[in-house]
Amino acid sequence: MSEPLGLDNGLTNYGDRDFARYLRRSMAHSMGISSELLARPVVGIAASPSDFNNCHRYMPQLVEAVSRGVLAAGGLPRAFPTISLGEVFLNPTSMVYRNLMSMDVEEMVRAQPMDAVVLIGGCDKTVPAQLMGAASAGRPAIQLVTGPMSTGRYRGERLGACTDCRRFWAKYRAGEVDQQEIQVVETRLATTAGTCAVMGTASTMACIAEALGMALPGTAAIPAVDSQRLVAAEETGKAAVRLAHRPIYPAQIITEQSVENAFRVLMALGGSTNAIIHLTAIAGRLGIRIDARRLNEISDETPVLVDLKPVGEGYMEDFHAAGGMGAVLRELRPLLHLDCLTIDGTTLRERLDAPAGWIDRKVIRAFEAPVSPVGGLIALKGSLAPDGAIFKRAAATPALFEKEGRAVVFDGLEDLAQRIDDPTLDVTADDILVLKNAGPLAAGMPEAGYLPIPAKLARAGVKDMVRISDARMSGTAYGTIVLHVSPETAAGGPLAAVRNGDRIRLSVQNKSIDLLVPEDEIARRLSTFEKPAPRSGGYRGLYDRTVMQAPEGCDLDFLAGLRG
Ligand code: FES
Repeated sequence: MSEPLGLDNGLTNYGDRDFARYLRRSMAHSMGISSELLARPVVGIAASPSDFNNCHRYMPQLVEAVSRGVLAAGGLPRAFPTISLGEVFLNPTSMVYRNLMSMDVEEMVRAQPMDAVVLIGGCDKTVPAQLMGAASAGRPAIQLVTGPMSTGRYRGERLGACTDCRRFWAKYRAGEVDQQEIQVVETRLATTAGTCAVMGTASTMACIAEALGMALPGTAAIPAVDSQRLVAAEETGKAAVRLAHRPIYPAQIITEQSVENAFRVLMALGGSTNAIIHLTAIAGRLGIRIDARRLNEISDETPVLVDLKPVGEGYMEDFHAAGGMGAVLRELRPLLHLDCLTIDGTTLRERLDAPAGWIDRKVIRAFEAPVSPVGGLIALKGSLAPDGAIFKRAAATPALFEKEGRAVVFDGLEDLAQRIDDPTLDVTADDILVLKNAGPLAAGMPEAGYLPIPAKLARAGVKDMVRISDARMSGTAYGTIVLHVSPETAAGGPLAAVRNGDRIRLSVQNKSIDLLVPEDEIARRLSTFEKPAPRSGGYRGLYDRTVMQAPEGCDLDFLAGLRG
């Protein structure tokens, strides 16, 4: 055990260490902090509030509560800002900026004088970015999430972002809800601070942070507006001071075993497809890789236990009240690696040996009576996706699991927007909608994989169709949707070769997705393919030149595998 260095961590280079120490303390005194406090271990608080991030609206209160915990435990709290990523306020998509935020977190955690850091995030890309950055920075780090929104009410019905956003929008497109009503619904979907109220990407990643062991037990699902969220923040601050005295590094927590545990939890939650990309990227920072075969083994062995939207009925506030992650982990216990270390210095086994509290079995099922006997997500492979694709079987229509159909192709997002509702579009409910050029290279991989049902079919009552793309899908969305097709169109994958009228076959049973066009014809069509030129400068130029495909977590190639 080494003594925390506090403000003496990483002195500024002047060629005179004593001068650097003296100058830093002089400037620290100008903050109006006593010498006694300046001598304490320092806990950084990586905060990401922003007026462009509704999900982080309560972050100032969380920072205050963490600071309170740090002070009470004998540390000096120092909050600092990083980039914030508000999911719906970023163009072209927040995914482009996840890696930028991870670099910001990594460098500021490493460069500034702190013995440990509390990472406070919530909205979809922020928690992955913080965990990626912390893994690379290699300082003791603990995650605190903002917590989920509480539900709103509309005509006696509970509403939560954003599964219900999509449900009402589909009704509006189908003519079942008029303009006036959709405007009222718009004001009832997201009524409190916090992250989306269902088991979308933010909630999934919060649970994964806890499953990995990077967040304190029981903290993932506490609603944002619950007083216990502030207590959790205070406890996180105290835990960070313990970390300053007895360091535990991200590489000790994020291991092949804990990553497997997290993938299992993801399956049991019926969680977001995006979590596969994010968890891959977090693990990739430490050189850990879970391949598609292992992912499918884990999925086939792990039942869906949690009955929440978009897969089931409940909301995150119900999940918390039902027993939260502790209850899920206890059900999964026989399948978990129990020796994994958690951030409070105990093992997962020690956590699960403690008695379980009350569990609401309507929301968190027993292992023997699951929502579904197999996991929510699977990897597909085949001639259309040689490097893989992802399918959320828990949120899809079983009648479409084995489906061959005619491709109706859209060349990109612009083409999709222009033609999807064209009354003359040649499309039937039996066709397969294909969207190209929406992968990480072409478009930053937006959440465009939830292609709308063409208006004329929606009005005729069609609720679901097979849809395929190299895009992602919001964790709050649902449908028979094949995502993350790799290599993407812009990388010259077979998706680039698909033409209107080609036959495509999806088989969930065989975990395959195939373009039923002879191999030599696919090769002939791709022979004239040209990769788009990267932008020349700035972060977007760097992104274009270095972003990897979905199976590598869409990280930038020079950031992966370099542990701090
Ligand atoms: Fe932030 Fe949904 S918009 S979690």
